[in-house]
Amino acid sequence: MKDIKGKVAVVTGAASGIGLGMARAFASEGMSVALCDIRADKLDEAARQLRELGARTMQIGVDVSDRAAVERAAAAVEAEFGRVHVLANNAGVALKSAISDVTNDEWDWVIGVNLYGVIHGAQAFLPRIRKHGEGGHIVNTSSIGGFQVREGRQTGAYSTTKFGVAAFSEALRNDLRGTGIGVSVLAPAAVNTAIYQAAANRPERFGKPPTVLPETPEDIRNGMHPDDVGRRVVAGIRDDDFYLFTHPESRGWVEERHRAIMDGFDAAERWRTELGR
Ligand SMILES: NC(=O)c1ccc[n+]([C@@H]2O[C@H](COP(=O)([O-])OP(=O)(O)OC[C@H]3O[C@@H](n4cnc5c(N)ncnc54)[C@H](O)[C@@H]3O)[C@@H](O)[C@H]2O)c1
Repeated sequence: MKDIKGKVAVVTGAASGIGLGMARAFASEGMSVALCDIRADKLDEAARQLRELGARTMQIGVDVSDRAAVERAAAAVEAEFGRVHVLANNAGVALKSAISDVTNDEWDWVIGVNLYGVIHGAQAFLPRIRKHGEGGHIVNTSSIGGFQVREGRQTGAYSTTKFGVAAFSEALRNDLRGTGIGVSVLAPAAVNTAIYQAAANRPERFGKPPTVLPETPEDIRNGMHPDDVGRRVVAGIRDDDFYLFTHPESRGWVEERHRAIMDGFDAAERWRTELGR
């Protein structure tokens, strides 16, 4: 989508971090922005920042794991702005735990927000993007953790959802090819955000939030500024790039995983040769 000025963007998880960075980047490009977040109380400040950049805004308190709530949000955006062009399915939560220790409530929460949140967003907004015929773009926030799983990080449940977001995005890109609606998967490594405090905003239906939150790891505290991620996304929408990586230094982790996969194929080749068919 080359021409984004004057178009309408919806961002989930827009009250903080990468979502706010994207919203600010969209506003700087002259887009109207609908800000969605479970922390409705933090959206006033986000909207104020966007208005300072000259943007029209609207605010919607929504839990993306709630399908009906996302559908209501889509209807509200359409009622206010008429048309939606860009959807940034970005709301997400981190969970630090050995994968065998993740509780049922935690699985429901992390899958509900990170994976179902993206699916709900696409289900609710895609028909609305399709129908005006002006084209559009959907950006789904995965993570570098959606392309490899690093040992020792205890982010297995998170990665399980982020691999899902990457697969969902690939399928959506394939389906929408040639329609004028682009798809990207955003896969940053460390960005300086509040992601490790995510459990403080865990809806009650996923169990009581923990009393102690994990410490934010050093690489996140020293991570990239979310505004820079926002700029990457704007460029990616314009150029219709599918993979939006932000940290070229994380390439080696993905290469290592792919090498192990190819080793698996080599082993299969030896096995087939031995089998003789
Ligand atoms: N920070 C990083 O290093 C990093 C790296 C790769 C990917 N990501 C991804 O970026 C996305 C944004 O995270 P961030 O790092 O900016 O963290 P953040 O915590 O600063 O922002 C996430 C926002 O999502 C909102 N949110 C949480 N649960 C929600 C729900 N159920 N419904 C609606 N909104 C909800 C939060 O209130 C918050 O405002 C996430 O999908 C995350 O997995 C982050």
